[in-house]
Amino acid sequence: MRWLAFNASPRGKKSNTHVMLEQMRAGMLEASLEASWEELFLNRVQEHEAAVDRLSEADGIVFAYPLYTDSMPGIAVRFLETLYHRLQLNKRLARPDLPAAFLVHSGFPEGVHTAHLPDLHRRICRRFGFRYLGTIRKPGSEGVRLMPPTMQRSLFARLRESGSMLACGESLDQGQIDNLVRYERLGPPRQLLLRAGEKIGIANMYWNRMLKQHHAWDARFDAPYSQPWGRS
Ligand SMILES: Cc1cc2nc3c(=O)[nH]c(=O)nc-3n(C[C@H](O)[C@H](O)[C@H](O)COP(=O)(O)O)c2cc1C
Repeated sequence: MRWLAFNASPRGKKSNTHVMLEQMRAGMLEASLEASWEELFLNRVQEHEAAVDRLSEADGIVFAYPLYTDSMPGIAVRFLETLYHRLQLNKRLARPDLPAAFLVHSGFPEGVHTAHLPDLHRRICRRFGFRYLGTIRKPGSEGVRLMPPTMQRSLFARLRESGSMLACGESLDQGQIDNLVRYERLGPPRQLLLRAGEKIGIANMYWNRMLKQHHAWDARFDAPYSQPWGRS
């Protein structure tokens, strides 16, 4: 079976998304000699049309993205819209019942940020006629590409297991992968700890450093969409 993994992180090969997809790939190839896996990087927007064409040869797809401002990154939406328009123009491109699994992850540690997305994924599958196989949700993902694999045994094991289930033609084991969401909301003790961390300046240290590194520090309170369009 030929599997295509669509990586919709703007960071492409350097993304947490890529690290996680690599684990799914390993699990899939361990489980089946007949499986093949290719990752397509949607940050190469000029290749979206070609990526849509590749669907015709896929036996299954994994659509993976990080949460950006509580939503899909623009390149993910752009790709889905390209696919939608191409299907409108040419119904023969349709792949009824194509198995589709999803991976969505967030920087924030609470599962609540991604809780609504399995419903969206089901709707996407209905719209495109794909067969929905489930959604892996992974909160607190920013460290994935930075931490040693020994500290991520449980995450990697579940991703590998998910890859092997797909290789065997099964849906994702929702009970198993739901364990990746340790808590939908932080309980009072963790909230207290976070507030203390904010007070002494360690809670936001990493993100503040990123903002400065990317010359966005002075613009951190900008709210470009708070005004209706056309007004200043
Ligand atoms: C511009 C931007 C917006 C983000 N918005 C959110 C968000 O709304 N909620 C969240 O939980 N994480 C958010 N994050 C964190 C990312 O989801 C997280 O860092 C993720 O691991 C990035 O994955 P990637 O390396 O595959 O791109 C944001 C990150 C960036 C750079």
